[in-house]
Amino acid sequence: PKNVGILAMDIYFPPTCVKQEALEAHDGASKGKYTIGLGQDCLAFCTEVEDVISMSLTAVSSLLKKYKIDPKQIGRMEVGSETVIDKSKSIKTFLMQLFEESGNTDIEGVDSTNACYGGTAALFNCVNWVESSSWDGRYGLVICADSAVYAEGPARPTGGAAAIAILVGPDAPIAFESKFRGSHMAHAYDFYKPNLASEYPVVDGKLSQNCYLMALDSCYKVFCEKFEKLEGKPFSMAEADYFVFHSPYNKLVQKSFGRLYYDDFLRNPSFVDEAARTSLEPYKSLSGDESYNSRDLEKANQQASKKIYDTKVQPSTLIPKEVGNMYTASLYAAFASLLHNENSSLIGKRVVMFSYGSGLTATMFSFKIQEGQGPFTLSNIVTLMDVAGKLKQRVEFPPEKFVETMKLMEHRYGAKDYVTSGDCSNLPAGTFYLTKVDSMYRRFYARK
Ligand code: ACO
Repeated sequence: PKNVGILAMDIYFPPTCVKQEALEAHDGASKGKYTIGLGQDCLAFCTEVEDVISMSLTAVSSLLKKYKIDPKQIGRMEVGSETVIDKSKSIKTFLMQLFEESGNTDIEGVDSTNACYGGTAALFNCVNWVESSSWDGRYGLVICADSAVYAEGPARPTGGAAAIAILVGPDAPIAFESKFRGSHMAHAYDFYKPNLASEYPVVDGKLSQNCYLMALDSCYKVFCEKFEKLEGKPFSMAEADYFVFHSPYNKLVQKSFGRLYYDDFLRNPSFVDEAARTSLEPYKSLSGDESYNSRDLEKANQQASKKIYDTKVQPSTLIPKEVGNMYTASLYAAFASLLHNENSSLIGKRVVMFSYGSGLTATMFSFKIQEGQGPFTLSNIVTLMDVAGKLKQRVEFPPEKFVETMKLMEHRYGAKDYVTSGDCSNLPAGTFYLTKVDSMYRRFYARK
């Protein structure tokens, strides 16, 4: 099989959201901290009737329906998620309910977990399967789903929630350049979930930012080396039309792109323009550690890369700014934003993706975009995904109601024997929602 990659995708995020500007005021943070400081506009969250399983059910059923995919045509299904509902039963097994009617139980794959990286692991598994000798000619299906919630404090405004379903197969409009992959994997305690009685992570914010940037440098280095070896010419930012980042909050994406610009400058000053060469010169011989902690360098990088950021990064920032960190779905929601904003003008372009999961695991990889065929064309993906429509249909909650929901969910986490309100008035038709959890912790869902 040739040009294995993404044939189709769909995204679901809860319509319930809170404006960052309102949250900022409610939390007593200084004006502009969440909107300019973190670069976020809005945060989507699950109310008591939604969770990662319901969102995944919604995303998968929507994708199969929109593209008229016969459920028998799915041969592998992989879920990436870090939202733990059951420690042994995978989210994938819940999704098998959608295949019952068709009689298709012959579907490989389970869940992959490592913070925000699980979706990428799941995607690689499906792509590798289609490229392998065990492929049986059917489609792969990847689901990235998370509800990102933080305890009260500075990390809370970086929450979010979404599920993305991705159909994988050959002759794809979004094809993997499989040889160009650079990974960085190491042991770190930057963000983890050791307290199984709580949905909230333990997070060292500053360390997690540094780990992210360190992993970015390392992945970029390996990616460039592999590119040069295979293509016989050096890689620099000029070789890619777009860069899409895992997006915990937009400010980190701005910093990350600035960092890649600095990496290019260090690798070969002629990769960057004259003005940037002058402004970055004073930082040429900083040690790694010094460079991660220099606020002046950070500013200089952002300044130097600002213009290219606007063309190569900005188009991918829409959904992450509007929805928040979606953990495993974040990178693919950023990619969905790029499709939404650039549509068919992406044909022939190269898109570099950076996936990061705390703990830590990271990979940089790339896509080559083609027109596609049949229902699997770029413009059809954009139309069916309807990002603008989904953003428009949202219901804004006041911060008090958001906080109240978080409190209720703290009680509900790991609990049994309760019935939800079943109030699905805010949900679009076709959305799955949680109705009850019985005395055996079994979860039950209905569809609006
Ligand atoms: N107007 C404009 N900007 C402001 C204002 C204001 N009134 N107040 C603060 N800022 C800026 C700060 O200068 C800073 O920007 P800078 O880094 O460019 O200087 C930014 O807003 C954030 O302010 P901090 O004081 O650094 O924020 P704080 O430490 O309170 O929290 C953090 C930020 C650490 C990111 C926190 O939200 C967090 O822990 N998030 C979760 C961890 C995370 O997402 N890590 C990323 C990788 S791991 C992952 O994906 C989960």
